Amino acid sequence: PKGLPLSGLHALVTAGPTQEQIDPVRYIANRSSGKQGFAIAGALAALGARVTLVSGPVGLETPKGVERIDVVSADEMLAASLAALPADMALCVAAVADWKVVGAGVQKIKKTDDGKAPVLQFAENPDILATLSGLGADRPKLMVGFAAETEKLLAHAEAKRQRKGCDWIVANDVSYGSGVMGGDENAITLISDAGTERWEQTSKHAIAQRLALRIADHFQKSPSG
Ligand code: C5P
Repeated sequence: PKGLPLSGLHALVTAGPTQEQIDPVRYIANRSSGKQGFAIAGALAALGARVTLVSGPVGLETPKGVERIDVVSADEMLAASLAALPADMALCVAAVADWKVVGAGVQKIKKTDDGKAPVLQFAENPDILATLSGLGADRPKLMVGFAAETEKLLAHAEAKRQRKGCDWIVANDVSYGSGVMGGDENAITLISDAGTERWEQTSKHAIAQRLALRIADHFQKSPSG
């Protein structure tokens, strides 16, 4: 759509959890619902962006005007994200599993007569945000990461922004009792070179709209990102 603030721009959004296979019937996952990422994808599309949403397994409807690519594991999410480039911006909202299971088998792990429990071995997953942020010419001009923390929110989030090389980081408190993980509301702090800004608790949709408007503002001020 022409004439909207994000017209002509391509946004890549990752959302939801990833599932890491243990065997054909078991997996490791996390409590991410995908709601915040889906809301952001919808809000960017509503402002005219072409949006590619790379989603882990979630029970959500695809927002209007968004192209959705479903993936399961972190490896698949990275591959789909790279395949979606070039993009003007990437928002890594997914709660990617940090580890995958080494040697996930094609056979179901069986209980044994000696009562010994299996021992799983893990290997680190690729970091999608750090990978995209570290690309050369193909790097999306605006890289936005999320930092879900349960303590020392701002310090951990800023450290993450530096370490992963993203431009903005959206920090949120996901401790038990915050109700954020899986819930409909969120309260965030936006961290960029310009400083930190706290947005009080509101719906994940309102956070998404505000973030999309802020991104539109950013691209208007520096059209090349
Ligand atoms: O390190 P941590 O998982 O807390 O970092 C969170 C941020 O990094 C989020 O933006 C998340 O989408 C992104 N991330 C990623 N790939 C990973 C781990 C995290 O893109 N393997």
